[in-house]
Amino acid sequence: MASGTRELTVELGERSYPIYIGTELIARTGEMFAERGFPVKSPILLVTDSSVVGLYAAKVEDSLTASGYSVTRAVVPSGESSKSLAMLDDLVEAALKAGLDRRSTVIALGGGVVGDLAGFVAASYMRGIRFVQIPTTILAHDSSVGGKVAVNHRLAKNIIGAFHQPEFVLYDLDTLMSLPPREVRAGLSEVIKHGLIWNKEFVAWCDENADKLIALEPDALGYALYEGCKVKSIVVSRDERENDLRAILNLGHTIGHALEAVAGYGELLHGEAIAIGMIGSARLAARFGYSETIAGETERIFRKFGLPVRIPAEFKTESIMSAMLHDKKFLEGQMVFVVPTAIGSVEIRQDVPSSWVSEIVDGLREGI
Ligand code: NAD
Ligand code: GLY
Repeated sequence: MASGTRELTVELGERSYPIYIGTELIARTGEMFAERGFPVKSPILLVTDSSVVGLYAAKVEDSLTASGYSVTRAVVPSGESSKSLAMLDDLVEAALKAGLDRRSTVIALGGGVVGDLAGFVAASYMRGIRFVQIPTTILAHDSSVGGKVAVNHRLAKNIIGAFHQPEFVLYDLDTLMSLPPREVRAGLSEVIKHGLIWNKEFVAWCDENADKLIALEPDALGYALYEGCKVKSIVVSRDERENDLRAILNLGHTIGHALEAVAGYGELLHGEAIAIGMIGSARLAARFGYSETIAGETERIFRKFGLPVRIPAEFKTESIMSAMLHDKKFLEGQMVFVVPTAIGSVEIRQDVPSSWVSEIVDGLREGI
């Protein structure tokens, strides 16, 4: 691996896999396939989206072809609406037409939408084939690690899916330089989330280095993504299938997913919705008797990163509450919330009165 490349391992026994974070990596995709013994005779499906295709697909394909692989490109429209059963169907058709067999690989080149969708194609095609993640958004430091793959249903997000781990994750920082500023900020929301659940020193570092991160300064960005991926890999290694610990990664998601559903998928970016949700969770913490400063501190940091901290005025509390009932984070008749106990640590609560949640949602609305 090129010098300066950071490396982590998601420890899952025989299914352990590396995450490489660095520069000039995608031009080495073919080499990495060959080093790992991916079979040359089995065709590869490269899934990407309409915004990413013109930027990076040819570089990945050229590298694979130079190493003797045959690769077929499948392009989905950019945006959350591509995480659908209809798109899964299209991609399975593309895989069949390209002649993918049981030894073939699906590559996800893009953000979390492409990663989740292509990953679910890989998990379901012939009951599961190889899968490689090449994330191209900051947010995808989260989605490309851990093997959760899914599409949305019109009533609920990520409700049709599987756990299917990639063979490796190739995170080329060069690809992040073309991200629109709003996507940069939304992605950083999940980076900060990893600090908020696990590592208060990292939260402080993000706070101090906000300007460098927003400006995509490579050293700061590489370090932040490494630290974010590190938290994610530790948690996934201990609880791959979310029996207990992994649920902490859902900080902000109970309210956040409901906001995304109410907004109509794609209107509020995932990282933006989660940022508002994390402030909601921090306000819940105060109801449970934890320090009232957690909410103010969380909000201050998100404001510094230019993230939304209030629920858009037109979103009705009843709609948000109703969307929460369809979420996966509803267990045994109770909403499940991840609640911060301090900056850098959280607990999982299933005893949150819905009246508290609706009061907090009301209090988070714009104009209040
Ligand atoms: P995304 O994939 O829609 O990408 C955001 C936008 O940036 C899109 O318009 C895309 O076309 C564009 N884009 C991507 N890379 C680019 C680049 N390098 N340059 C310019 N434009 C680029 O969204 P996202 O924020 O990456 O991911 C959000 C999705 O991830 C949601 O569906 C969410 O549910 C999912 N997610 C999954 C997990 C998981 O564990 N599986 C975790 C977190 C989020
Ligand atoms: N983003 C939550 C998880 O991966 O479990």
